[in-house]
Amino acid sequence: MLLSSILVCLLSQVSFASAGPNSSEEWWRDSFVYQIYPRSFKDSNGDGVGDLNGITSKLEHLADINVSALWISPIYVSPMVDFGYDIANFTDIDPVFGTLDDFSKLVTKAKSLGLKVLLDFVPNHSSDKHPWFLKSIQRVKPYDEYYIWKDPKIVNGTRQPPNNWLSAFQGSAWEWNEQRKQYYLHQFATGQPDLNYRNPALNEEMKEALRFWLRRGVEGFRIDTIPSLVEDDRFLDEPKIPNTGLPDTDPNTLSHIYTYNQHETYEVLKTWRDVLDEFNGTKKIILTEAYTNLTYLIKYYKYGSNIPFNFMFMGQLNNKSSPLDFKRDMDSYLNEIPPGEVANWVVGNHDQQRISWRFGVKRADWLSMVAAVAPGVGVIYNGDEIGMENRPMSWEETVDPAGCNAGRDRYTIYSRDPARSPFQWDSTTSAGFSTSNKTWLPVNSNYKTLNLEIQKKTPGSHYHIFKQLVDLKRHPVVKEGTTEIIVIHDVLAIVRRLPGTTPVVLLLNFSSNDVIADFSAWLNSPRVMTVYTASVGSGIQPGKFHNLTSFRLAPSAAVIFV
Ligand code: NOJ
Repeated sequence: MLLSSILVCLLSQVSFASAGPNSSEEWWRDSFVYQIYPRSFKDSNGDGVGDLNGITSKLEHLADINVSALWISPIYVSPMVDFGYDIANFTDIDPVFGTLDDFSKLVTKAKSLGLKVLLDFVPNHSSDKHPWFLKSIQRVKPYDEYYIWKDPKIVNGTRQPPNNWLSAFQGSAWEWNEQRKQYYLHQFATGQPDLNYRNPALNEEMKEALRFWLRRGVEGFRIDTIPSLVEDDRFLDEPKIPNTGLPDTDPNTLSHIYTYNQHETYEVLKTWRDVLDEFNGTKKIILTEAYTNLTYLIKYYKYGSNIPFNFMFMGQLNNKSSPLDFKRDMDSYLNEIPPGEVANWVVGNHDQQRISWRFGVKRADWLSMVAAVAPGVGVIYNGDEIGMENRPMSWEETVDPAGCNAGRDRYTIYSRDPARSPFQWDSTTSAGFSTSNKTWLPVNSNYKTLNLEIQKKTPGSHYHIFKQLVDLKRHPVVKEGTTEIIVIHDVLAIVRRLPGTTPVVLLLNFSSNDVIADFSAWLNSPRVMTVYTASVGSGIQPGKFHNLTSFRLAPSAAVIFV
């Protein structure tokens, strides 16, 4: 008892020897990146919407959990049709978020805390209120070709869109413009016209936007929806996928062979890599958002992405997946990481349901644990570190265009609002997110029991687990060791090994029953190992020794041994 208490104490204080985030060129290796959805993080002025000064006031939290960088979703001038992903000025801050001055203060404070600031770069489209688009409508040069304009197809004397392409937010991807007398392409909302990368002048403007932020101290970018960037210029109809059972307006009825993953996109990415490399000092990072197959995903490394987001936990693997499904997908992915490049594991983001909704409340820590033990970078979304849950929204409360456009009967399939509810800081008004009790999306009613302040005071909470996971990333075995993924009955194990040291072992029980096994024999691990951390509700105490020759793992429990 005494010995285990001493060990708990030692383990909670342990900080693995690290060469320090700035000592290697690629500072992001062996770290976690933290995504902030600015509307929902912290409101500093009581208008119910999060802002830059709010983020600045909470940077200590990020330093406390020891993530290496924060990526902030769009903060630029925007009519907010897609809550910031529709940009009307790529080089200024929207007043709802603050000013350029506020941004500089944020960067200065982040740097003083050892945090890198990354921005969202949204190159596929602008807002339809962007001055470029307004001039493009009027055919003012050179803006006339900054967007994808096409003449209508005339069928039986009536005007039709040029082809059958569909928007990711439902319905035709083409919108008629009466003034220009042409259709424009919008792969997202009608207020998000697609930019034309076959026009070199346009890309020069986008490169200048990157330089603008790099000069203001930004250390890299997350690039939005990169596979949609360039389209096949024959503008052919996309093939229909048979028997989807979905309405014709649904983008999942088409195989996107002409609008997604085109080779030219990778060449444009390379031009942005070159821009980032113009800047001396700390190496700049590119993270790319692409929901695509392994071949297209891995190709992003070659064209300058450091972190082509690995979204395998965003649907491909879900609460129906078996340990073998996890093993198969994780192995296939790791096999393809090019030499010298680094893997990554995205745990959550603002476009997906919360982890507890995707995998179950008992498994809320699982993905961060996998991201910590597996080689490479972990990417988490604000709130994941305290196990925030979906806040289900009624149709009346729904504001996300992906939900609204799907209509009252289908909005819950597409709406991303439930994962965007305000961050739960404490038990005060609006969970400490805002002084106003009217927030842009409702606060989850569980905030009095689920919040950061309470979790800080509760040993074994999601918060404490997450802090240990970030620390574990710097463990020599996790940094340098080999990786084996093994299935034992209903348990998935990840084993990291370095000769001459105790391995690091993660066990996840997929079963709804206890699993008892001789894990030591299956894993070729020491018979007795020490618990480093274990998931909330697992009943396993950190610091305790366990005999793995006959170890019992409760349903949905996860444990890391060192
Ligand atoms: C991906 C972003 O993550 C999402 O929030 C947005 O709606 C689309 N791209 C369009 O920009």
